[in-house]
Amino acid sequence: MVQKFVGTVISKNTLLLTIAIKKFMLKICLFVFFIPSCLIVHAQTISTVENGIWKIAYGQPEKMLPDQFKAAAKTAALAAMTAENTPAISLSEIKFSKIASGIMAEIDAADDERFYGFGLQINSFEQRGMRRDIRINSWPVGNVGFSHASMPFYISSKGYGVLINTCRYTTFYTASLKKMDVTTTGDTVSTEIKLSTAALYGKTNLAEGKVNVVVAGTDGMEIYIINGPTLLNVMQRYNLFSGGGSLPPLWGLGFQYRAKASSTADQVQKIGDYFREKNIPCDVMGLEAGWQTNAYSSSFVWNKANFPQPENFTQRMIGQGYKINLWEHAYTAPNSPMYKPIAPYSADYKVWNGAVPDFNLPQASAIFGNYHDENFVQKGIAAFKLDESDGADYKEAHAEWSYPDLTQFPSGIDGIQMRQLYGTLYQQMMHDLYKKYNRRTFFDVRSSYLFSSPFSSALYSDMYSHADYVRMVCNTAFSGLSWSPELRESKNDADLIRRIQTTVMSSHMVANCWYLNMPPWLQFDTDKNVKGELLPNATELEQLAKKMIDIRMSLLPYIYAAYAKYHFDGTPVFRPLVMDYPNDKRTFKMDDEYMMGESILCAPFIDSSSVRNVYLPAGNWYDFNNNKKYQGDSTYKISMGLDEIPMFIKENTILPLAKPLQFISDSSVFDITCKIYGHPSAPVNLFEDNTFNNDFEKANYSWLALSWNGKKGKLVRSGNYKGKLYRVNGWEVIK
Ligand code: GAL
Repeated sequence: MVQKFVGTVISKNTLLLTIAIKKFMLKICLFVFFIPSCLIVHAQTISTVENGIWKIAYGQPEKMLPDQFKAAAKTAALAAMTAENTPAISLSEIKFSKIASGIMAEIDAADDERFYGFGLQINSFEQRGMRRDIRINSWPVGNVGFSHASMPFYISSKGYGVLINTCRYTTFYTASLKKMDVTTTGDTVSTEIKLSTAALYGKTNLAEGKVNVVVAGTDGMEIYIINGPTLLNVMQRYNLFSGGGSLPPLWGLGFQYRAKASSTADQVQKIGDYFREKNIPCDVMGLEAGWQTNAYSSSFVWNKANFPQPENFTQRMIGQGYKINLWEHAYTAPNSPMYKPIAPYSADYKVWNGAVPDFNLPQASAIFGNYHDENFVQKGIAAFKLDESDGADYKEAHAEWSYPDLTQFPSGIDGIQMRQLYGTLYQQMMHDLYKKYNRRTFFDVRSSYLFSSPFSSALYSDMYSHADYVRMVCNTAFSGLSWSPELRESKNDADLIRRIQTTVMSSHMVANCWYLNMPPWLQFDTDKNVKGELLPNATELEQLAKKMIDIRMSLLPYIYAAYAKYHFDGTPVFRPLVMDYPNDKRTFKMDDEYMMGESILCAPFIDSSSVRNVYLPAGNWYDFNNNKKYQGDSTYKISMGLDEIPMFIKENTILPLAKPLQFISDSSVFDITCKIYGHPSAPVNLFEDNTFNNDFEKANYSWLALSWNGKKGKLVRSGNYKGKLYRVNGWEVIK
């Protein structure tokens, strides 16, 4: 063998000498090539970024990192948080290595550590023991980690967050692997003969305490470590680092109706009149695809056959208090006035025969933005639904509609990176159009990514599992996003009303009737709805729907104040119970109950049911509907009529409830009654400003502190806002 190795017959001494020379040469090689390359490729630097936030950089920096697109951090608010000089995990012990597909990081995890997050996950809540593939995708099949807003960011129950600053495909193994160790022989192996695939492939391995992260197609990795100490504090820091939570216009929190895609101006107007005549509050009227001459791809030109006088239509609707929201996606049709100018600044692959503008290029953003500004924003269009920014390339191989991974964008971004970023860049550019006029807006968007907390937008989906929708409300807390569990068709009365209730108890209350002729409470079956057949009990269901929408409107001041808090100190408005009760074991995996603001626990009825187990954490709670008092730290089997909404009010709360307005205008004033539950020692704060513009960013706002001394209420206004949004008329003690 040796002879073969050296290629000729040699003596033992010569052989030894040859080996020694080879070893020496190898050392020189190692010194010249390997060691310096170690220094370059394997260097790991740690820096402090903000109070409680650190960055670890390893290897060659990637181009096009998500943090390059983020807003400036709210540094003062971050600095005001508890000083955190020491990261919750040892940063220098995070192990990096180069592997065939890219770079891997290994992060230690304790045996009792739990993980949450990975963006707006759909199918799962507590994420330990899993593989999480981070891909923006509109129709995720299986629980692999894909979502409209899948993010390489998890939050540990030990009070820190790990955010991988990349737009590349990232895979996390959350303490789900067991590494080979030749020195151990003591692992037990099952002797059971298994007789089903479920038994064969069910999880049996006792996984190791490590999170492995692999970023594919890269030579470097950047990690942000975000300290807590609590789950809530991690998310506050993340939201503040992203630029602060969004503060939507108040009307964006009202009810939105989206009319059938093929509607004419007269038909939309009729629906608008219907809401006003019936006193059913409605703020936003959404026009779906058919307002354009062609939508897939988009012309961005009014379809005059359906909307002969778009400006008259818009003004008439505005006159009735509606805010018009136009559906679109960015794929620009060859017959669009924007096509020729934007084509050179677009991807090298088309979608639905349209150009895919590169929103990472100022030229593409300017062409797209100016066109929208002149034709829509200046004409009174209040908002947009930015659709199809995700791609469904993992659903059916023969029906992939989006641009492929191998796409090249002129700015240098490739298809993989752009899919993660597209929704974010798109909404950023569109939000800026409104900022110019000091107007606030609220978008519907179908994808989002890291650092999107400051955008007033809600994510939505074509999927329709009610349980998933509720879980997603819980998961929004770990993503810095708002989520819209929209109402479409239903199976029966209960399914309809319970879904409406879930929309009431969410960021965005929407009936998306893009394929329905009339509101689903008049007919929830799609076929019958489009035939115009009313339900026999349509009037009764309409009254129930109105009652729920009225409840939403009465909660608007409370929800708006929670958003203001989100904006200023990063506290998510909707939070799973584990965030508010982190030491209560029963909340660890609870994905069907959540807090809305400080004081309201929501426990939606799912899948047409009107009875469920509700866990109420420590303290006392009151049924919102009938004031029945429950002792916390217990689970109750709760049943409610369809006219009752599953909300529970925490004891010692002052709940400000408003007389429902039909819509929000710039002269709206809410008449408030404060409900007193228990013996509140702290005031409740309402946020008062001009709810349409951005003057709050220049400190033009006030806080109203409403307190109760056991006998009477007190109101203290502090701040700069000259107008008045609230009139406090009454105080009602709940017995
Ligand atoms: C879908 C979107 C729906 C509706 C439809 C119109 O992709 O999710 O909500 O807008 O497009 O074509």
